[in-house]
Amino acid sequence: MTQTQDDYRFRAAGPEEAEAFHRLMREVWRGMEDRELFAVDDLDRDWIAARMTGGGFGVAVCTPAGEMAGMLLVSIPGLGEDNLGYDVGMAEDRLPQVGVVEIAAVLPRHRGHGLERRMMAWAEDRLAGTEIRCLMATISPRNPASLHSAERCGYRVILTKEKYGGHLRHILMKPINGGRWSDLTIQE
Ligand SMILES: CC(C)(COP(=O)(O)OP(=O)(O)OC[C@H]1O[C@@H](n2cnc3c(N)ncnc32)[C@H](O)[C@@H]1OP(=O)(O)O)[C@@H](O)C(=O)NCCC(=O)NCCS
Repeated sequence: MTQTQDDYRFRAAGPEEAEAFHRLMREVWRGMEDRELFAVDDLDRDWIAARMTGGGFGVAVCTPAGEMAGMLLVSIPGLGEDNLGYDVGMAEDRLPQVGVVEIAAVLPRHRGHGLERRMMAWAEDRLAGTEIRCLMATISPRNPASLHSAERCGYRVILTKEKYGGHLRHILMKPINGGRWSDLTIQE
């Protein structure tokens, strides 16, 4: 049966699904020609579970038969060092308002349906009405599919720097829930 775009279903996932998320992430990573784009080899199930707590959550996109086709993680890092707000010189009182889109992965056989972009949009809807005013993400400049998805969602590249032990990454940002670009202080 041909899978139409609308056959995919989106739902939130918690730490009890960290193992399944980890499996999918590893499968995508193993299949990549250029693993520098998706530097997740040292991230384990506990790392994923930690992102799915404290207000963070996973987004799973599944086929009607229940196969997980893709995953996304959103963490709420607060004042933790993973908060990308530090990278852009955000004022400290804004840091608790940041949500970080950490990992997106779609199995190769399910690509071509804009699932990353749709997971990002779904995550944003889930955060509607919360205290989160800004979503942030890192994407390799050499990852056009991911960059295109984020930009179509309204994210903008704020700066480009080495992250995660020397990998060049764009840092992107999108105000939500009434947040304003003008509230974001950018480091020189
Ligand atoms: C990045 C990833 C999640 C995107 O999956 P996806 O949402 O299924 O991607 P799609 O095939 O639907 O492509 C998304 C968009 O990028 C565009 N695109 C794809 N490849 C492209 C390329 N080489 N150049 C420019 N645009 C490209 C598509 O046309 C599509 O745009 P549209 O929705 O406006 O038509 C998937 O490729 C993946 O899992 N990659 C490995 C892990 C990774 O890099 N994750 C992101 C960093 S955390």
